[in-house]
Amino acid sequence: MLSIPTLQHIYKSYADTQRFNQKPASLYEPINYLLGLGGKSMRPTLVLLAANLFSAQVEKALPQAYAIELFHNFSLMHDDIMDKSPLRRGQPTVHIRYDENTAILSGDAMLVYAFQYIAQTNADLLAPILQIFTHTAIGICEGQQLDMDMAAAPTATVDEYIAMIRLKTAVLLQASLEMGAIIGGADQSQAAILGSFGLNLGISFQIQDDYLDTFGQAAQVGKRIGGDILENKKTFLLLKALELANPEQKATLSRLLSTRPLNEIEEQEKITHVTALFQSLNIAQLTQDFAQHYYQLAVDDLQRLQLPPDKATYLLDFAHYLLNRQS
Ligand code: IPE
Ligand code: IPE
Ligand code: MG
Ligand code: MG
Ligand code: MG
Repeated sequence: MLSIPTLQHIYKSYADTQRFNQKPASLYEPINYLLGLGGKSMRPTLVLLAANLFSAQVEKALPQAYAIELFHNFSLMHDDIMDKSPLRRGQPTVHIRYDENTAILSGDAMLVYAFQYIAQTNADLLAPILQIFTHTAIGICEGQQLDMDMAAAPTATVDEYIAMIRLKTAVLLQASLEMGAIIGGADQSQAAILGSFGLNLGISFQIQDDYLDTFGQAAQVGKRIGGDILENKKTFLLLKALELANPEQKATLSRLLSTRPLNEIEEQEKITHVTALFQSLNIAQLTQDFAQHYYQLAVDDLQRLQLPPDKATYLLDFAHYLLNRQS
């Protein structure tokens, strides 16, 4: 097994040689801009890691790893328009730095390029890989629409929240592991168990993302803290707060949810007020516990895979790093 830093190095060396220098520059520059801001490259690392569990030739999975990272960045470019997010990876988002139309079209181009990389799959594996990729991509669109529908609704259940984040986030981690495993030569059942590990890890990851959106450090998260609160996102934090609030707190929350801040000062007031309410209800701890629950389900999946201890350790280390991340 190659170490995680080695896998990340192999991925980065490959990604650095891929270029989007075509014309018009106004279409391609925003792609290079967003990709150039980096990110954790967690999904391509998972692709290579899964491939490496079954094969020494991890290079075989590089185009698919890159396709998944392109797809992820496409989804971020559009997500930032939808979420009215000003910052990503510590820098202005594409629609702020360029404009919305550019972010729509550059995002579209990235999505199509993702399919070009998928098309590099060997003929014998192309059908299953394409099936996973397209199924996943559609699922993410469904999840993103559910996210917006739920933001517009007064409340939601925790089950609805889990169904939404499973689609918008977790299925891409599932696909990363399944695709890597298949390219590495895993059989159907091994790939499915790894996929389940990815799904639970992805749910845990999005709960943690929601936590960091309110309780993280701006310098580490690289996004505007409180963005989810401003957009009335039905995060676990908000749903739990609505559940635990006394009548007075509930009335305050409902009022804050139904008023749209008119300027920067009012925006900050809304964020501060909702965050204080969360704090008085111990929401930070409850959210961490909820993320930990799905992390544990992921760990249980690994046990079902019956990997040799050294291989299981790699996956556990990576899962643990994700659970404790601050960015
Ligand atoms: C952000 O994903 C979008 C979510 C699904 C929460 P990451 O936190 O993996 O973003 P980068 O790629 O590291 O910037
Ligand atoms: C993003 O969820 C999911 C996708 C991009 C598909 P979020 O909206 O929570 O991601 P961030 O917080 O903007 O990175
Ligand atoms: Mg979003
Ligand atoms: Mg967002
Ligand atoms: Mg988020």
